[in-house]
Order: sequence, then structure tokens, then C-alpha cells
Amino acid sequence: MDFSAIIVAAGSGERAGAGGPKQWRLLGGKPVARWSLEAFLNAGAREVVVVVPPGGAAHAEAVFAGLERWRATEGGAHRAQSVTRGLAALGGPLDEVVLIHDAARPFVSAGHIRAVVEALKEAEGAAPALAMADTLKAWNGDKGPVTGAPRDGLWRVQTPQGFRRNVIEAAYGLLRGDTIPTDDLAVLEAFGGHAVLVPGDPLLMKLTYPEDFLMAERLAGAARITRIGQGFDVHRIGPGDGVWLCGLKIPHDGALVGHSDADAGLHALTDALLGAIGEGDIGDHFPPTDPTWKGAASDIFLRHAAKLIAGRGGEIINVDLTLICEAPKIKPHRQAMRERVAEILGLAPDRVSIKATTTEKLGFTGRGEGLAAQAVAAVTLPI
Ligand code: CTP
Ligand code: MG
Repeated sequence: MDFSAIIVAAGSGERAGAGGPKQWRLLGGKPVARWSLEAFLNAGAREVVVVVPPGGAAHAEAVFAGLERWRATEGGAHRAQSVTRGLAALGGPLDEVVLIHDAARPFVSAGHIRAVVEALKEAEGAAPALAMADTLKAWNGDKGPVTGAPRDGLWRVQTPQGFRRNVIEAAYGLLRGDTIPTDDLAVLEAFGGHAVLVPGDPLLMKLTYPEDFLMAERLAGAARITRIGQGFDVHRIGPGDGVWLCGLKIPHDGALVGHSDADAGLHALTDALLGAIGEGDIGDHFPPTDPTWKGAASDIFLRHAAKLIAGRGGEIINVDLTLICEAPKIKPHRQAMRERVAEILGLAPDRVSIKATTTEKLGFTGRGEGLAAQAVAAVTLPI
């Protein structure tokens, strides 16, 4: 089912204390609102409208740099006004599904999104909700805490809340100016619409108070998965005066032969990174039949793989490359190669390892007919 999304990020975060509006603060090194936008884009949203504070569009451009299929619009004085403006800014068909999400809930995942979209096959509205676990008390002045409502049958409702778009637009259109709902199910309810609840998740917590940020920082590490990839490449050695390896020209009485600059080291690294994100291999992205890549410097390929990872909110943890040849001797160039690869990938050099070995004069590398390279890469991605 096609769906679009609205992420409301126009609040001022009064209760979260110092540190600026909470949706722009860093969590695990990434702005809070970016966590949600990446999740919706990864889950396949057709378009996402991010509702930002008045005057905040330029800031949003910086926060969401490199992401596509989103646009910013300015919000209003309270959440419901911000949602209304988000709905008005949404393009596309009215008969689709729209999910409305608080930017202040950064750990939303594709699974949460799918569950809400799925529930909308049977209902006009759907939201994740958690049963109350704690006992409820009311504060009664001098008497102190007195037993409040029984917790059975009470639910803590979270976001994303999903709706058939034409229904929620009509519901918001009829919302009376003097009512200030704090969620969207309430707006559907006032309209007489029918909603269902799907299982909520403590990970959908809302950052509200300063202590929520401490908890979220701990969770930020756990909200990512680590993936590995491996790559392998061989190039023939022909006549020439040096080989391109790891982005450097190394003097040699031969050259690596290939369509591009034949830098087997960078090719193996590129395939390892593509492998970690399941993006095929270097030939899928840069076909050897395409004359554009004739003689091309292979750092282009490696940069492309790094950009694909960054576009998914991924981070390269480390890469490890082994070059297999009798000659040239790699050791004198190892540190320079490390620094060059680190520079291409935008990593600290200690995350790049380059090793070399011979094959004891055995096989094609042993006879000096060619050079082989193998690499592994570890990458973290948002869940
Ligand atoms: N929100 C919004 N427009 C508003 C108020 C809130 O888009 N005028 C958004 C917030 O940015 C947040 C979500 O609605 O993502 C949930 O609101 P809340 O947690 O109350 O955030 P704030 O209003 O920013 O925080 P506070 O109430 O503490 O000021
Ligand atoms: Mg608020």
C-alpha cells in the first residue's frame, strides 16, 4: 500500500530544558528529527513532509542534507495546527494512507511503520499503544497521592498514527478552534471515525524531559545493526612503469591492466562496502562496457559506495584490505595508502587497515602475472 508521512517537528521543546529545540539536538551523533525521516524513507514512504518551526526551513535543509523525497513546511502554535499545515503541504493522491509522526520519537522503525500501514486495511485510523504497567495515582492536595483510575483498559498511545488521508483531512478540516488535541486519533474520534490500536513499543518513547535524552543516548547505540561485506578483485600485470593501488601510483616495472585505472585495492574495498549494504557489485554501478569509466580513477567508485552508505544513515566502522602479490613491495607504501583510503572514505586512518602477503611464488600472483586484493568492511545501519 502506498503511503506518505508527516513528521511534526515544529515544537519548541520547553520541557526538555536547555540545548535548543529537541528535534534538532544530536542523538548518537545524528539530529533527533533525522532518525525519523530516515526511517520513513527507508520504509518506502512516497513523500514526507517535515513540519518545522517558523523560519526553520534553511536549518532543516542542513539537518536532512543528502536525503530525498521530503519537503519542509512551517508549523503553527500547537501540534494540531502543525499537522493541519503538514496535510496542506502534502502532494500526491488523496486516496492514499498518511502516517503522522512526532519527530520527538526517534526510534521509529520500518517494522513499526509497516504494522500501522497494515492495520489501515481494516480501519480509518491506527496507532501503536502500550498497556499501562504502573499504578495510577491522583494528587489530592493535603491528602497526597490517592488511588486514581484503574490501569486496566488504559493505553499509552504513541506515534506513528496512520489514517486514510481523505478521512483525516476532513476530520482536521472540521476541528473546532477551541479544542487542542494532543494526538491525531482524538481528531478522528471527534469526527466519528473508527481507529484500531496495534502493539506499541517502549522504543517509540517520546523525548520530553531532560532525562529522556540520557536514556535515548543509551538506546541510540542499540538501535543500529552491524553488517559486513567482502570484496575480491584481480588485475593482470602488463607493461608499464607503475601500478595504481589504494589511490596511489606505486613505481613498478609493470602496470595493472583494466578498463579503469585497474586499482584492485580500491575495487575490492568498493565491493566490500557495497556487499555490506546489499547493493550488488562495482560492475552494477559502473559497467565496464560504459566508455565513461575508461581509465577512470577508482576513488570515484569508492566514494560512490560511501555515499550510498551515508544516504541510508549508515556509518563505516572499519575496512580491512589484503593485497596479494610478490611485487611491488607494499610495506613501504602502507601508511600512505592507509591515509589515502581514509581520506577518500572520510574516516580516521585507524579505521583503515592495509596488509599484504605473497603466495610463496605459487599461482598467478606468485609468477607475477597479476595482483589480487581482498577486503572486508563493517558498517552500521539504522534498524
Ligand atoms: N509539535 C509541532 N508543533 C507544535 C508543537 C509540537 O510540530 N506547535 C511537535 C513537536 O516538535 C514534537 C511533537 O509535536 O515532535 C510532540 O510534541 P511535544 O513532545 O509536546 O514537543 P514540544 O511541543 O516541542 O515540547 P514541549 O511541549 O515540552 O514544549
Ligand atoms: Mg508540546
